[in-house]
Amino acid sequence: MISIKQQLNQIVSAALSTVSGISTDNAHVITASRPDYGDYQANGVMAVAKQLKTNPRELAQQVVVALEQDLDGIASKLELGGPGFINIYLHNDFLLTRANDLAGSAKNLIPQAAPTQTIVTDYSSPNLAKEMHVGHLRGTIIGDCLTRILEQQGHHVIRQNHVGDWGTQFGMLITYMQQQLKQHSDIPTALADLESFYREAKQRFDADEEFAEQARASVVRLQSGEADYLAIWQQFIEASLNHCQAVYDKLNISLSRADLKPESFYNPQLNNIIQILEDEDMLTISDGAKCVFLDEFTDKDGTPKPVIIQKSDGGFLYATTDLAAARYRSKDLAADRVLYVVDQRQSLHFRQIFSVSAKAGLINSTISLEHIAYGTMMGEDGKPFKTRSGDVVKLIDLLNESVSRALQLVKEKNPGLDEASCQGIADKVGIAAVKYAELSKNRTSDYVFDWSNMLSFDGNTAPYLMYAYARIRSILRKQDTESGDYGIVALATLEERSLLLKILQFPEIIDTVARDCFPNQLCNYLYELAGIFMRFYEACPILNAGPQTRNSRLALASLTAESLKLGLDLLGIETLEKM
Ligand code: ARG
Repeated sequence: MISIKQQLNQIVSAALSTVSGISTDNAHVITASRPDYGDYQANGVMAVAKQLKTNPRELAQQVVVALEQDLDGIASKLELGGPGFINIYLHNDFLLTRANDLAGSAKNLIPQAAPTQTIVTDYSSPNLAKEMHVGHLRGTIIGDCLTRILEQQGHHVIRQNHVGDWGTQFGMLITYMQQQLKQHSDIPTALADLESFYREAKQRFDADEEFAEQARASVVRLQSGEADYLAIWQQFIEASLNHCQAVYDKLNISLSRADLKPESFYNPQLNNIIQILEDEDMLTISDGAKCVFLDEFTDKDGTPKPVIIQKSDGGFLYATTDLAAARYRSKDLAADRVLYVVDQRQSLHFRQIFSVSAKAGLINSTISLEHIAYGTMMGEDGKPFKTRSGDVVKLIDLLNESVSRALQLVKEKNPGLDEASCQGIADKVGIAAVKYAELSKNRTSDYVFDWSNMLSFDGNTAPYLMYAYARIRSILRKQDTESGDYGIVALATLEERSLLLKILQFPEIIDTVARDCFPNQLCNYLYELAGIFMRFYEACPILNAGPQTRNSRLALASLTAESLKLGLDLLGIETLEKM
Protein backbone atom coordinates (compact mmCIF):
# COMPACT_ATOMS: atom_id res chain seq x y z
CA MET A 1 0.00 0.00 0.00
CA ILE A 2 1.18 3.54 -0.54
CA SER A 3 2.01 5.29 2.70
CA ILE A 4 -0.25 7.83 4.35
CA LYS A 5 2.48 10.39 3.91
CA GLN A 6 2.67 9.77 0.19
CA GLN A 7 -1.10 9.84 -0.16
CA LEU A 8 -1.33 13.15 1.69
CA ASN A 9 1.58 14.57 -0.26
CA GLN A 10 -0.14 13.77 -3.54
CA ILE A 11 -3.40 15.38 -2.47
CA VAL A 12 -1.84 18.48 -0.94
CA SER A 13 0.53 18.93 -3.90
CA ALA A 14 -2.40 18.81 -6.32
CA ALA A 15 -4.30 21.40 -4.30
CA LEU A 16 -1.24 23.61 -3.98
CA SER A 17 -0.61 23.40 -7.74
CA THR A 18 -4.21 24.31 -8.58
CA VAL A 19 -4.43 27.18 -6.13
CA SER A 20 -1.01 28.69 -6.94
CA GLY A 21 -0.81 27.92 -10.65
CA ILE A 22 2.70 26.56 -10.08
CA SER A 23 2.95 22.86 -10.68
CA THR A 24 4.60 20.98 -7.82
CA ASP A 25 4.63 17.36 -6.72
CA ASN A 26 6.21 17.96 -3.37
CA ALA A 27 4.13 19.70 -0.75
CA HIS A 28 6.68 18.55 1.86
CA VAL A 29 4.29 16.51 3.94
CA ILE A 30 6.03 15.12 7.00
CA THR A 31 5.00 13.37 10.19
CA ALA A 32 4.09 16.17 12.59
CA SER A 33 7.08 17.24 14.61
CA ARG A 34 4.90 17.85 17.70
CA PRO A 35 1.54 16.42 18.81
CA ASP A 36 -0.08 19.88 18.75
CA TYR A 37 0.77 20.12 15.04
CA GLY A 38 -1.65 17.29 14.28
CA ASP A 39 -0.66 13.95 12.77
CA TYR A 40 1.04 15.30 9.65
CA GLN A 41 2.08 18.73 8.49
CA ALA A 42 2.55 20.15 5.01
CA ASN A 43 5.49 22.54 4.84
CA GLY A 44 5.66 23.14 1.09
CA VAL A 45 3.51 26.25 0.81
CA MET A 46 6.25 28.69 1.82
CA ALA A 47 8.58 27.78 -1.04
CA VAL A 48 5.81 28.23 -3.61
CA ALA A 49 4.73 31.54 -2.03
CA LYS A 50 8.31 32.72 -2.30
CA GLN A 51 8.35 31.91 -6.01
CA LEU A 52 5.11 33.85 -6.47
CA LYS A 53 6.28 36.63 -4.17
CA THR A 54 3.03 36.34 -2.30
CA ASN A 55 2.07 36.11 1.37
CA PRO A 56 2.58 32.47 2.46
CA ARG A 57 -0.15 32.52 5.10
CA GLU A 58 -2.70 33.75 2.61
CA LEU A 59 -1.68 31.11 0.09
CA ALA A 60 -1.82 28.43 2.78
CA GLN A 61 -5.31 29.61 3.75
CA GLN A 62 -6.48 29.13 0.17
CA VAL A 63 -4.94 25.67 0.07
CA VAL A 64 -6.70 24.77 3.31
CA VAL A 65 -10.02 25.80 1.78
CA ALA A 66 -9.37 23.55 -1.22
CA LEU A 67 -8.27 20.71 1.04
CA GLU A 68 -11.49 20.81 3.06
CA GLN A 69 -13.02 19.03 0.08
CA ASP A 70 -10.07 17.01 -1.14
CA LEU A 71 -9.35 15.57 2.28
CA ASP A 72 -12.98 14.89 3.11
CA GLY A 73 -13.13 11.56 4.93
CA ILE A 74 -9.36 11.59 5.42
CA ALA A 75 -8.76 14.55 7.70
CA SER A 76 -10.99 15.47 10.63
CA LYS A 77 -9.42 18.88 11.03
CA LEU A 78 -7.03 21.20 9.16
CA GLU A 79 -5.19 24.02 10.79
CA LEU A 80 -3.06 26.87 9.62
CA GLY A 81 0.15 27.26 11.61
CA GLY A 82 3.10 29.66 11.82
CA PRO A 83 4.12 31.40 8.60
CA GLY A 84 2.16 28.94 6.40
CA PHE A 85 2.27 25.37 7.66
CA ILE A 86 -0.80 23.21 7.29
CA ASN A 87 -1.49 20.84 10.16
CA ILE A 88 -3.46 17.74 9.29
CA TYR A 89 -5.45 15.72 11.83
CA LEU A 90 -6.49 12.35 10.46
CA HIS A 91 -9.99 10.97 10.77
CA ASN A 92 -10.32 7.84 12.91
CA ASP A 93 -12.45 6.23 10.22
CA PHE A 94 -9.67 6.75 7.71
CA LEU A 95 -7.23 4.95 10.02
CA LEU A 96 -9.72 2.12 10.57
CA THR A 97 -10.31 1.70 6.85
CA ARG A 98 -6.60 1.56 6.20
CA ALA A 99 -6.13 -0.98 8.99
CA ASN A 100 -8.81 -3.21 7.60
CA ASP A 101 -7.41 -2.85 4.08
CA LEU A 102 -4.42 -4.77 5.37
CA ALA A 103 -6.73 -7.77 5.50
CA GLY A 104 -4.99 -9.12 8.56
CA SER A 105 -1.63 -9.37 6.81
CA ALA A 106 1.16 -7.11 8.01
CA LYS A 107 3.04 -7.99 4.80
CA ASN A 108 0.77 -5.45 3.10
CA LEU A 109 2.55 -2.77 5.11
CA ILE A 110 5.52 -3.06 2.76
CA PRO A 111 5.07 -0.46 0.03
CA GLN A 112 5.49 -2.09 -3.37
CA ALA A 113 7.85 -0.30 -5.72
CA ALA A 114 6.45 1.12 -8.94
CA PRO A 115 8.31 1.07 -11.22
CA THR A 116 10.56 -1.67 -9.94
CA GLN A 117 14.30 -1.33 -10.43
CA THR A 118 17.23 -3.65 -10.95
CA ILE A 119 19.46 -3.04 -7.94
CA VAL A 120 22.90 -4.52 -7.36
CA THR A 121 23.93 -4.83 -3.73
CA ASP A 122 27.68 -5.25 -3.27
CA TYR A 123 28.25 -6.25 0.32
CA SER A 124 30.34 -8.38 2.67
CA SER A 125 33.00 -8.77 -0.07
CA PRO A 126 35.85 -9.96 2.18
CA ASN A 127 39.36 -10.53 0.95
CA LEU A 128 39.82 -14.29 0.79
CA ALA A 129 42.84 -16.13 2.17
CA LYS A 130 42.06 -14.65 5.55
CA GLU A 131 39.16 -15.45 7.80
CA MET A 132 36.36 -12.96 8.15
CA HIS A 133 37.03 -10.64 11.05
CA VAL A 134 35.00 -8.02 12.86
CA GLY A 135 35.80 -5.45 10.17
CA HIS A 136 33.45 -7.36 7.87
CA LEU A 137 30.59 -7.46 10.31
CA ARG A 138 28.93 -4.13 9.66
CA GLY A 139 28.95 -4.29 5.88
CA THR A 140 27.69 -7.86 5.86
CA ILE A 141 24.80 -7.15 8.20
CA ILE A 142 23.78 -3.75 6.80
CA GLY A 143 24.05 -4.94 3.20
CA ASP A 144 21.90 -7.97 3.91
CA CYS A 145 19.23 -5.86 5.60
CA LEU A 146 19.04 -3.41 2.68
CA THR A 147 18.90 -6.33 0.27
CA ARG A 148 15.97 -7.88 2.10
CA ILE A 149 14.03 -4.61 2.19
CA LEU A 150 14.52 -3.82 -1.49
CA GLU A 151 13.64 -7.35 -2.45
CA GLN A 152 10.45 -7.30 -0.40
CA GLN A 153 9.48 -4.09 -2.17
CA GLY A 154 9.48 -6.02 -5.41
CA HIS A 155 12.76 -4.78 -6.86
CA HIS A 156 14.97 -7.14 -8.81
CA VAL A 157 17.93 -7.31 -6.45
CA ILE A 158 21.21 -8.90 -7.54
CA ARG A 159 23.62 -9.67 -4.70
CA GLN A 160 27.27 -9.36 -5.64
CA ASN A 161 29.83 -10.64 -3.21
CA HIS A 162 32.91 -8.90 -4.67
CA VAL A 163 35.44 -11.04 -2.82
CA GLY A 164 39.14 -10.24 -3.13
CA ASP A 165 40.60 -13.44 -4.56
CA TRP A 166 43.33 -12.13 -6.84
CA GLY A 167 45.72 -9.88 -4.95
CA THR A 168 49.51 -10.15 -4.67
CA GLN A 169 49.12 -11.85 -1.27
CA PHE A 170 48.35 -15.07 -3.11
CA GLY A 171 51.93 -15.30 -4.31
CA MET A 172 53.13 -15.32 -0.74
CA LEU A 173 50.52 -17.85 0.30
CA ILE A 174 51.21 -20.21 -2.57
CA THR A 175 54.95 -20.17 -1.94
CA TYR A 176 54.42 -20.85 1.74
CA MET A 177 52.02 -23.64 0.91
CA GLN A 178 54.52 -25.27 -1.43
CA GLN A 179 57.00 -25.35 1.44
CA GLN A 180 54.43 -26.64 3.91
CA LEU A 181 53.40 -29.43 1.58
CA LYS A 182 56.92 -30.81 1.80
CA GLN A 183 56.25 -31.44 5.50
CA HIS A 184 52.47 -31.79 5.81
CA SER A 185 49.96 -34.16 4.34
CA ASP A 186 47.52 -32.04 2.38
CA ILE A 187 46.23 -28.57 1.73
CA PRO A 188 42.94 -28.73 3.67
CA THR A 189 44.82 -29.77 6.84
CA ALA A 190 47.31 -26.99 6.39
CA LEU A 191 44.46 -24.53 5.97
CA ALA A 192 42.36 -25.58 8.95
CA ASP A 193 43.32 -22.32 10.59
CA LEU A 194 43.50 -19.86 7.75
CA GLU A 195 44.34 -16.98 10.01
CA SER A 196 47.51 -18.47 11.48
CA PHE A 197 48.53 -19.79 8.08
CA TYR A 198 48.33 -16.26 6.74
CA ARG A 199 50.21 -14.84 9.72
CA GLU A 200 53.05 -17.35 9.38
CA ALA A 201 53.34 -16.77 5.65
CA LYS A 202 53.49 -13.04 6.23
CA GLN A 203 56.18 -13.40 8.88
CA ARG A 204 58.23 -15.46 6.47
CA PHE A 205 57.67 -12.94 3.72
CA ASP A 206 58.82 -10.04 5.89
CA ALA A 207 61.84 -11.86 7.32
CA ASP A 208 63.23 -13.83 4.42
CA GLU A 209 64.24 -11.98 1.24
CA GLU A 210 64.68 -15.16 -0.78
CA PHE A 211 61.19 -16.26 0.18
CA ALA A 212 59.82 -12.85 -0.76
CA GLU A 213 61.51 -13.11 -4.13
CA GLN A 214 59.89 -16.48 -4.77
CA ALA A 215 56.56 -15.15 -3.63
CA ARG A 216 56.70 -12.33 -6.16
CA ALA A 217 57.57 -14.80 -8.88
CA SER A 218 54.62 -16.94 -7.81
CA VAL A 219 52.16 -14.09 -8.39
CA VAL A 220 53.36 -13.74 -11.94
CA ARG A 221 53.10 -17.48 -12.55
CA LEU A 222 49.63 -17.54 -11.04
CA GLN A 223 48.45 -14.59 -13.06
CA SER A 224 49.84 -16.01 -16.26
CA GLY A 225 47.72 -19.08 -15.60
CA GLU A 226 50.23 -21.84 -14.73
CA ALA A 227 48.27 -24.92 -13.82
CA ASP A 228 50.13 -25.90 -10.59
CA TYR A 229 49.74 -22.42 -9.24
CA LEU A 230 46.10 -22.16 -10.20
CA ALA A 231 45.42 -25.49 -8.51
CA ILE A 232 46.82 -24.39 -5.15
CA TRP A 233 45.12 -21.00 -5.46
CA GLN A 234 41.80 -22.73 -6.14
CA GLN A 235 42.12 -24.71 -2.91
CA PHE A 236 42.81 -21.55 -0.96
CA ILE A 237 39.72 -19.96 -2.34
CA GLU A 238 37.72 -23.06 -1.56
CA ALA A 239 38.88 -23.22 2.07
CA SER A 240 38.33 -19.53 2.52
CA LEU A 241 34.84 -19.58 1.06
CA ASN A 242 33.90 -22.43 3.38
CA HIS A 243 34.91 -20.26 6.31
CA CYS A 244 32.81 -17.38 4.96
CA GLN A 245 29.79 -19.56 4.37
CA ALA A 246 29.97 -20.83 7.95
CA VAL A 247 29.80 -17.23 9.15
CA TYR A 248 26.92 -16.38 6.80
CA ASP A 249 24.95 -19.41 7.91
CA LYS A 250 25.49 -18.66 11.56
CA LEU A 251 24.51 -15.00 11.05
CA ASN A 252 21.50 -15.83 8.88
CA ILE A 253 22.91 -13.82 5.99
CA SER A 254 21.24 -14.45 2.65
CA LEU A 255 24.47 -14.76 0.64
CA SER A 256 25.34 -18.02 -1.09
CA ARG A 257 27.90 -19.27 -3.56
CA ALA A 258 25.65 -18.15 -6.38
CA ASP A 259 26.15 -14.52 -5.34
CA LEU A 260 29.93 -14.59 -5.71
CA LYS A 261 31.40 -12.33 -8.31
CA PRO A 262 35.06 -12.40 -7.30
CA GLU A 263 37.69 -9.97 -8.50
CA SER A 264 39.19 -12.71 -10.69
CA PHE A 265 35.95 -12.80 -12.69
CA TYR A 266 36.87 -9.41 -14.17
CA ASN A 267 40.40 -10.39 -15.21
CA PRO A 268 39.61 -11.06 -18.84
CA GLN A 269 37.96 -7.63 -19.10
CA LEU A 270 40.78 -5.50 -17.75
CA ASN A 271 42.66 -5.00 -21.02
CA ASN A 272 39.44 -3.82 -22.55
CA ILE A 273 39.05 -1.24 -19.78
CA ILE A 274 42.53 0.09 -20.56
CA GLN A 275 41.58 0.24 -24.23
CA ILE A 276 38.42 2.23 -23.53
CA LEU A 277 40.30 4.70 -21.34
CA GLU A 278 42.93 5.05 -24.03
CA ASP A 279 40.28 5.64 -26.71
CA GLU A 280 38.72 8.30 -24.51
CA ASP A 281 42.13 9.93 -24.19
CA MET A 282 41.98 9.71 -20.44
CA LEU A 283 45.26 7.92 -19.68
CA THR A 284 48.50 9.62 -18.70
CA ILE A 285 51.78 7.81 -18.04
CA SER A 286 53.20 8.80 -14.68
CA ASP A 287 56.32 7.05 -13.33
CA GLY A 288 55.69 4.35 -15.91
CA ALA A 289 52.17 3.67 -14.62
CA LYS A 290 48.96 4.28 -16.57
CA CYS A 291 46.90 6.79 -14.62
CA VAL A 292 43.79 8.91 -14.89
CA PHE A 293 44.03 12.42 -13.49
CA LEU A 294 40.78 14.19 -12.70
CA ASP A 295 40.57 17.85 -11.74
CA GLU A 296 38.20 17.19 -8.87
CA PHE A 297 40.70 14.99 -7.00
CA THR A 298 43.68 16.97 -5.80
CA ASP A 299 46.06 17.07 -2.85
CA LYS A 300 45.85 19.77 -0.21
CA ASP A 301 48.20 21.89 -2.33
CA GLY A 302 46.08 21.47 -5.45
CA THR A 303 48.19 18.88 -7.29
CA PRO A 304 45.96 16.40 -9.11
CA LYS A 305 45.89 12.90 -7.58
CA PRO A 306 46.24 9.95 -9.93
CA VAL A 307 43.87 7.01 -10.13
CA ILE A 308 46.35 4.27 -11.01
CA ILE A 309 44.91 1.89 -13.56
CA GLN A 310 47.91 -0.24 -14.50
CA LYS A 311 51.26 -0.42 -12.75
CA SER A 312 54.54 -0.09 -14.65
CA ASP A 313 55.07 -3.89 -14.43
CA GLY A 314 51.71 -4.44 -16.14
CA GLY A 315 49.84 -5.37 -12.95
CA PHE A 316 46.26 -4.25 -12.48
CA LEU A 317 44.82 -2.81 -9.31
CA TYR A 318 41.78 -2.85 -7.08
CA ALA A 319 40.55 0.24 -8.97
CA THR A 320 40.87 -1.42 -12.38
CA THR A 321 38.68 -4.31 -11.27
CA ASP A 322 36.14 -1.90 -9.84
CA LEU A 323 35.92 -0.06 -13.15
CA ALA A 324 35.25 -3.36 -14.89
CA ALA A 325 32.68 -4.24 -12.24
CA ALA A 326 30.88 -0.91 -12.67
CA ARG A 327 30.73 -1.50 -16.40
CA TYR A 328 29.49 -5.07 -15.98
CA ARG A 329 26.78 -4.02 -13.55
CA SER A 330 25.56 -1.23 -15.77
CA LYS A 331 25.84 -2.77 -19.22
CA ASP A 332 25.42 -6.49 -18.58
CA LEU A 333 23.22 -6.58 -15.50
CA ALA A 334 21.33 -3.44 -16.57
CA ALA A 335 21.33 -2.12 -13.04
CA ASP A 336 19.44 1.09 -12.28
CA ARG A 337 21.14 1.39 -8.94
CA VAL A 338 24.26 -0.09 -7.34
CA LEU A 339 24.79 0.00 -3.58
CA TYR A 340 28.40 -0.43 -2.47
CA VAL A 341 28.16 -1.27 1.21
CA VAL A 342 31.81 -0.70 2.09
CA ASP A 343 33.92 0.84 4.85
CA GLN A 344 33.92 4.62 4.82
CA ARG A 345 37.71 4.66 4.57
CA GLN A 346 37.27 3.69 0.93
CA SER A 347 35.20 6.73 0.08
CA LEU A 348 37.86 8.43 -2.05
CA HIS A 349 38.30 5.20 -4.00
CA PHE A 350 34.59 5.08 -4.81
CA ARG A 351 34.31 8.74 -5.71
CA GLN A 352 37.14 8.18 -8.15
CA ILE A 353 35.63 5.00 -9.59
CA PHE A 354 32.21 6.62 -10.04
CA SER A 355 33.72 9.63 -11.70
CA VAL A 356 36.06 7.75 -14.05
CA SER A 357 33.27 5.31 -14.99
CA ALA A 358 30.94 8.15 -15.93
CA LYS A 359 33.55 10.13 -17.87
CA ALA A 360 34.70 7.08 -19.81
CA GLY A 361 31.15 6.02 -20.61
CA LEU A 362 31.61 2.68 -18.83
CA ILE A 363 28.17 3.12 -17.27
CA ASN A 364 24.78 4.29 -18.51
CA SER A 365 24.03 7.88 -17.66
CA THR A 366 20.88 7.08 -15.68
CA ILE A 367 22.49 4.64 -13.25
CA SER A 368 22.88 5.62 -9.61
CA LEU A 369 26.12 4.40 -8.00
CA GLU A 370 26.00 4.86 -4.23
CA HIS A 371 28.68 4.25 -1.64
CA ILE A 372 26.81 3.12 1.46
CA ALA A 373 29.65 3.90 3.83
CA TYR A 374 29.99 2.70 7.39
CA GLY A 375 32.28 3.62 10.26
CA THR A 376 34.67 1.50 12.28
CA MET A 377 33.79 -0.83 15.10
CA MET A 378 35.69 0.18 18.24
CA GLY A 379 36.54 -1.72 21.38
CA GLU A 380 35.52 -0.38 24.77
CA ASP A 381 38.90 1.37 24.89
CA GLY A 382 37.84 3.50 21.92
CA LYS A 383 40.39 1.91 19.59
CA PRO A 384 39.60 -0.42 16.68
CA PHE A 385 38.29 -3.69 18.09
CA LYS A 386 41.07 -6.23 18.85
CA THR A 387 41.65 -9.24 21.07
CA ARG A 388 43.58 -8.81 24.31
CA SER A 389 46.74 -9.92 22.58
CA GLY A 390 46.19 -7.32 19.89
CA ASP A 391 45.06 -9.71 17.12
CA VAL A 392 42.06 -9.07 14.96
CA VAL A 393 39.00 -10.88 16.29
CA LYS A 394 37.70 -13.70 14.12
CA LEU A 395 34.06 -13.23 13.39
CA ILE A 396 33.14 -16.80 14.13
CA ASP A 397 34.71 -16.53 17.62
CA LEU A 398 32.82 -13.34 18.31
CA LEU A 399 29.51 -14.92 17.33
CA ASN A 400 30.18 -17.96 19.48
CA GLU A 401 30.97 -15.73 22.40
CA SER A 402 27.74 -13.80 21.94
CA VAL A 403 25.73 -17.02 22.00
CA SER A 404 27.44 -18.26 25.14
CA ARG A 405 26.89 -14.93 26.90
CA ALA A 406 23.24 -15.04 25.84
CA LEU A 407 22.94 -18.57 27.23
CA GLN A 408 24.15 -17.34 30.59
CA LEU A 409 21.50 -14.63 30.65
CA VAL A 410 18.69 -16.87 29.47
CA LYS A 411 19.47 -19.36 32.24
CA GLU A 412 19.45 -16.61 34.85
CA LYS A 413 16.08 -15.37 33.60
CA ASN A 414 14.48 -18.83 33.34
CA PRO A 415 15.93 -20.96 36.13
CA GLY A 416 13.38 -23.74 35.54
CA LEU A 417 13.89 -24.09 31.80
CA ASP A 418 15.64 -27.18 30.41
CA GLU A 419 19.09 -26.91 28.85
CA ALA A 420 18.01 -27.55 25.26
CA SER A 421 15.31 -24.87 25.32
CA CYS A 422 17.73 -22.38 26.87
CA GLN A 423 20.25 -23.16 24.16
CA GLY A 424 17.61 -22.74 21.45
CA ILE A 425 16.73 -19.27 22.74
CA ALA A 426 20.37 -18.28 23.22
CA ASP A 427 21.27 -19.29 19.66
CA LYS A 428 18.76 -16.78 18.33
CA VAL A 429 19.25 -14.03 20.91
CA GLY A 430 23.04 -14.11 20.73
CA ILE A 431 23.10 -13.62 16.97
CA ALA A 432 20.24 -11.13 16.97
CA ALA A 433 22.00 -9.01 19.60
CA VAL A 434 25.13 -8.64 17.47
CA LYS A 435 23.15 -7.86 14.33
CA TYR A 436 20.84 -5.38 15.97
CA ALA A 437 23.71 -3.57 17.64
CA GLU A 438 25.16 -2.89 14.19
CA LEU A 439 21.87 -1.99 12.57
CA SER A 440 20.58 0.31 15.29
CA LYS A 441 23.53 2.70 15.14
CA ASN A 442 23.84 5.41 12.53
CA ARG A 443 26.05 3.55 10.07
CA THR A 444 28.31 6.50 9.30
CA SER A 445 29.54 6.85 12.89
CA ASP A 446 32.17 4.69 14.49
CA TYR A 447 30.60 2.68 17.23
CA VAL A 448 31.73 1.01 20.41
CA PHE A 449 31.16 -2.70 20.65
CA ASP A 450 29.71 -3.31 24.09
CA TRP A 451 28.47 -6.74 25.18
CA SER A 452 26.38 -5.62 28.12
CA ASN A 453 24.54 -3.03 26.02
CA MET A 454 23.67 -5.26 23.14
CA LEU A 455 22.54 -8.17 25.32
CA SER A 456 20.44 -6.03 27.63
CA PHE A 457 16.71 -6.71 27.88
CA ASP A 458 16.06 -2.97 28.32
CA GLY A 459 16.48 -0.23 25.80
CA ASN A 460 16.83 -0.28 22.04
CA THR A 461 18.20 -3.83 21.73
CA ALA A 462 17.35 -7.09 20.02
CA PRO A 463 16.53 -8.91 23.28
CA TYR A 464 14.08 -6.16 24.22
CA LEU A 465 12.25 -6.28 20.89
CA MET A 466 12.25 -10.07 20.70
CA TYR A 467 10.86 -10.17 24.20
CA ALA A 468 8.20 -7.57 23.36
CA TYR A 469 7.11 -9.72 20.45
CA ALA A 470 7.03 -12.93 22.49
CA ARG A 471 5.07 -11.17 25.18
CA ILE A 472 2.32 -10.07 22.78
CA ARG A 473 2.16 -13.57 21.38
CA SER A 474 1.71 -14.93 24.87
CA ILE A 475 -1.09 -12.43 25.57
CA LEU A 476 -2.81 -13.55 22.39
CA ARG A 477 -2.40 -17.23 23.30
CA LYS A 478 -4.08 -16.62 26.63
CA GLN A 479 -7.02 -14.96 24.91
CA ASP A 480 -7.63 -18.03 22.80
CA THR A 481 -6.95 -16.28 19.56
CA GLU A 482 -3.72 -16.09 17.72
CA SER A 483 -4.86 -14.51 14.53
CA GLY A 484 -6.34 -11.12 13.82
CA ASP A 485 -9.60 -12.85 12.95
CA TYR A 486 -11.43 -9.82 14.23
CA GLY A 487 -11.32 -6.39 12.71
CA ILE A 488 -10.12 -3.29 14.46
CA VAL A 489 -13.44 -1.51 14.82
CA ALA A 490 -12.96 1.26 17.36
CA LEU A 491 -10.35 3.71 18.53
CA ALA A 492 -11.96 4.66 21.80
CA THR A 493 -8.78 5.77 23.55
CA LEU A 494 -5.80 7.89 22.62
CA GLU A 495 -3.51 4.91 23.20
CA GLU A 496 -5.35 2.76 20.67
CA ARG A 497 -5.24 5.56 18.15
CA SER A 498 -1.52 6.21 18.62
CA LEU A 499 -0.74 2.53 18.29
CA LEU A 500 -2.71 2.11 15.08
CA LEU A 501 -1.29 5.29 13.57
CA LYS A 502 2.22 4.11 14.39
CA ILE A 503 1.61 0.76 12.69
CA LEU A 504 0.21 2.51 9.63
CA GLN A 505 3.42 4.54 9.43
CA PHE A 506 5.44 1.38 8.78
CA PRO A 507 5.41 1.93 4.99
CA GLU A 508 6.92 5.40 5.39
CA ILE A 509 9.90 4.01 7.25
CA ILE A 510 10.44 1.38 4.60
CA ASP A 511 10.34 4.02 1.85
CA THR A 512 12.90 6.10 3.74
CA VAL A 513 15.27 3.22 4.45
CA ALA A 514 15.05 2.01 0.86
CA ARG A 515 15.98 5.50 -0.34
CA ASP A 516 18.64 6.57 2.18
CA CYS A 517 19.93 3.17 3.33
CA PHE A 518 19.98 3.87 7.06
CA PRO A 519 18.59 0.75 8.75
CA ASN A 520 18.81 2.43 12.17
CA GLN A 521 15.63 4.28 11.21
CA LEU A 522 13.75 1.00 11.05
CA CYS A 523 15.27 -0.02 14.41
CA ASN A 524 14.16 3.23 16.04
CA TYR A 525 10.71 2.80 14.60
CA LEU A 526 10.35 -0.74 15.97
CA TYR A 527 11.62 0.37 19.36
CA GLU A 528 9.04 3.17 19.47
CA LEU A 529 6.32 0.81 18.28
CA ALA A 530 7.10 -1.61 21.12
CA GLY A 531 6.98 1.28 23.61
CA ILE A 532 3.64 2.54 22.31
CA PHE A 533 2.27 -0.97 22.55
CA MET A 534 3.30 -1.20 26.21
CA ARG A 535 1.45 2.05 26.94
CA PHE A 536 -1.61 0.76 25.13
CA TYR A 537 -1.47 -2.50 27.07
CA GLU A 538 -1.28 -0.70 30.40
CA ALA A 539 -4.06 1.75 29.57
CA CYS A 540 -6.52 -0.46 27.72
CA PRO A 541 -7.91 -3.55 29.45
CA ILE A 542 -8.51 -6.39 27.04
CA LEU A 543 -9.98 -9.26 29.00
CA ASN A 544 -12.47 -7.20 30.99
CA ALA A 545 -13.71 -5.11 28.10
CA GLY A 546 -17.00 -5.81 26.37
CA PRO A 547 -16.82 -8.36 23.51
CA GLN A 548 -16.59 -5.82 20.71
CA THR A 549 -13.84 -3.74 22.32
CA ARG A 550 -12.05 -6.87 23.45
CA ASN A 551 -11.94 -8.27 19.93
CA SER A 552 -10.90 -4.97 18.44
CA ARG A 553 -8.06 -4.65 20.93
CA LEU A 554 -6.98 -8.21 20.31
CA ALA A 555 -6.87 -7.49 16.61
CA LEU A 556 -4.76 -4.43 17.28
CA ALA A 557 -2.38 -6.43 19.48
CA SER A 558 -2.13 -9.10 16.84
CA LEU A 559 -1.34 -6.55 14.15
CA THR A 560 1.34 -5.06 16.41
CA ALA A 561 2.95 -8.47 16.82
CA GLU A 562 2.85 -9.07 13.08
CA SER A 563 4.41 -5.67 12.40
CA LEU A 564 7.22 -6.25 14.89
CA LYS A 565 7.91 -9.63 13.37
CA LEU A 566 7.89 -8.21 9.87
CA GLY A 567 10.25 -5.40 10.85
CA LEU A 568 12.65 -7.77 12.57
CA ASP A 569 12.48 -10.08 9.57
CA LEU A 570 13.53 -7.23 7.31
CA LEU A 571 16.45 -6.58 9.62
CA GLY A 572 17.39 -10.24 9.25
CA ILE A 573 16.45 -11.08 12.83
CA GLU A 574 14.46 -14.16 13.74
CA THR A 575 11.76 -13.95 16.40
CA LEU A 576 10.78 -16.50 19.04
CA GLU A 577 7.19 -17.31 19.99
CA LYS A 578 8.23 -17.94 23.59
CA MET A 579 11.17 -16.57 25.50
N1 ARG B 1 37.45 -6.69 -0.70
C1 ARG B 1 37.39 -5.31 -0.34
C2 ARG B 1 37.93 -5.12 1.08
O1 ARG B 1 37.95 -6.06 1.85
C3 ARG B 1 35.98 -4.76 -0.37
C4 ARG B 1 35.33 -4.81 -1.73
C5 ARG B 1 34.14 -3.91 -1.81
N2 ARG B 1 33.52 -3.88 -3.09
C6 ARG B 1 34.04 -3.29 -4.17
N3 ARG B 1 33.36 -3.34 -5.30
N4 ARG B 1 35.18 -2.66 -4.13
O2 ARG B 1 38.32 -4.02 1.42
